Amino acid sequence: EKESVTIPAQHTEPTASRFVRACLRQPVDRTPIWLLRQAGRYMPEYMAVRKHHSLLDICRTPDVAAEVTITAAERLGVDAAIIFADLLLPFTPMGLDFEFVAGEGPQVNTPVRSLEHVQALRTDRAEDLSYVARAIEKVAAHFSGPRPDGDSLGIIGFCGAPFTLASYMIEGGSSRNYIETKKLMYSESAAWPLLMEKLVTVLVAFAKQQVEAGADVIQIFDSWVGALSVTDYRQYCLAPTTELIRRVRALGVPVIYFGVDTASLLPAMRETGADVLGLDWRIPLSEGWKTIGPGCGVQGNLDPITLFAPHDVLKARVQEILQEAAGRPGHIFNLGHGIVPGTPVENVIQTIEWVKEFGKR
Ligand code: CP3
Repeated sequence: EKESVTIPAQHTEPTASRFVRACLRQPVDRTPIWLLRQAGRYMPEYMAVRKHHSLLDICRTPDVAAEVTITAAERLGVDAAIIFADLLLPFTPMGLDFEFVAGEGPQVNTPVRSLEHVQALRTDRAEDLSYVARAIEKVAAHFSGPRPDGDSLGIIGFCGAPFTLASYMIEGGSSRNYIETKKLMYSESAAWPLLMEKLVTVLVAFAKQQVEAGADVIQIFDSWVGALSVTDYRQYCLAPTTELIRRVRALGVPVIYFGVDTASLLPAMRETGADVLGLDWRIPLSEGWKTIGPGCGVQGNLDPITLFAPHDVLKARVQEILQEAAGRPGHIFNLGHGIVPGTPVENVIQTIEWVKEFGKR
């Protein structure tokens, strides 16, 4: 199968959503907005569904995953819906069992610590993840056609990046210092490159299912890559991540590449060829964009904890970010990381309204 990096016509016509247009750095009527973890525990509608379903149940039941995705996007009035799923879902078809332990996050039963274990991971069962594609089809059907403002809603599929997924596989859960991950990465054995290669194989297949089901854009979460020095990122992660992004873009969709604490990594992350880089709040948006240079969009970068601040502070931060972007094509307003539980919903909705008002071009 021949791969090309051309974006198909449907995405370049003026009828595409302002979100997709912004991902391609095309002019838009106003800055598009969506929010990381926009369907989550801060939202009563989500908690009502969680009463009857576990997190993995929701992810694996297309009707419920679609409902959660659609409810959040409509309640908030955002410009894009991110499919409700989780980063760790591809572990199951790779042969790695995990669960979500209340209050502690994900736990992998037998973490990957050896070459033998990496060799045993499977890459031929990505079709087991097709429940995510089925959910995307339902979301796409629901949002087909223009909204009242004439724009069509963007649909975001996603997957993890090789480093961040490897860190969960190897540590067995969340981590502070990534000791086991870095031990495997630095070791002489072939384990790390083989793990990177296997992850890329599965993630490309997973992304392909999502694009064929109707995802307009793929976001790649490298949430914990900021734990790496620039040297280590370049030596151990840049090539597999570039390969992943090249092959996802070849499916015909723009790619957003997101990480936290990445200010020093931005020039290297730019080399992956992503269409848009996600920024956290630790770097001013204009400085981040200057570092990234021309030919790449930016997404971000409000501190999610600002959503707990009084309205005058919150409004000032929203306006500051829009001013930093200076109306340059290619900015997508978002948070610098996910909305946390306890965030007042009314502040989230107010923020979106301000972006719509002050982000007019
Ligand atoms: O609305 C959306 O943003 C889509 C839903 C989504 C979830 N996970 C559902 C979820 C997305 C995009 C993810 C991605 C994900 N999963 C990431 C990358 C995003 C990031 O924050 O950087 C990561 C690191 C994971 C792995 C993961 N899933 C962890 C570490 C946890 C525990 C976090 C916690 O605070 O307990 C999860 C659980 C999870 N995934 C929740 C949701 C809504 C919360 C738990 C729940 O509802 O029971």
